[in-house]
Amino acid sequence: MDTTTEQPKGLDTTDFFAVAKERRSVRQYDPNHKMERSEIKEILETAILAPSSSNLQPWRFLVIEDQTAKEELLPIANNQKQIVDASVVIAVLGDKYAYKNADQIYTQIAKKGNMSDEIKEMYVNSILDNYGNFPEERLSKISLIDGGLVSMQLMLAAKAKGYDTVPMGGYDADEFVKTFNVPNHLEPVMLISLGKGTKAGFEKTRLPLEDVLEWNKY
Ligand SMILES: Cc1cc2nc3c(=O)[nH]c(=O)nc-3n(C[C@H](O)[C@H](O)[C@H](O)COP(=O)(O)O)c2cc1C
Repeated sequence: MDTTTEQPKGLDTTDFFAVAKERRSVRQYDPNHKMERSEIKEILETAILAPSSSNLQPWRFLVIEDQTAKEELLPIANNQKQIVDASVVIAVLGDKYAYKNADQIYTQIAKKGNMSDEIKEMYVNSILDNYGNFPEERLSKISLIDGGLVSMQLMLAAKAKGYDTVPMGGYDADEFVKTFNVPNHLEPVMLISLGKGTKAGFEKTRLPLEDVLEWNKY
């Protein structure tokens, strides 16, 4: 479906509500627009402010910027044109074993004076003990949930910076892992094309809130 000639809406504001309203999944991009790594990093720096389970930040990013690598990804991602036309594709990955970084993370927190060394030790030991005994499936679920949160924040940050995105689940994850040498402990959450959109995404349509909302108990 390709029904609009409307351009993606450029925003003259970073007001949260305007950004959330105007972000759309954009599938047409200017293939000549190159993004500086510094701009991509700025967007990612905002994305990683997202919350995560026990603040373990299991997200990892593979930024695919080389055209040849994007061409390699194209058939793996159902030949979706945004793969090759957007400035970059960001593969958001989840690290199932991110809990192993608990000491590094909680030492940072303690250094900021937000926690005594003693409490820090207690937290770290409890995380290592709990997460270390979780079944793989649960670890995977946690990293996928946190990966979703960081992805959303990435897309909103991009929109606030004047860029467009589209999240993608339509790709062969196993083939992606193989081709891009993704290490075993990481699993793909989604791919996100990021760049200068040339055509607006579809106007938002959502189920009425009343259809998806209940109060207190089902
Ligand atoms: C996890 C996930 C996977 C998606 N996969 C694809 C995809 O493979 N290709 C695509 O064009 N859009 C994909 N989308 C985009 C959705 O179609 C889009 O978010 C939805 O239609 C709502 O439109 P909006 O993002 O413009 O609000 C995906 C979205 C999500 C959240």
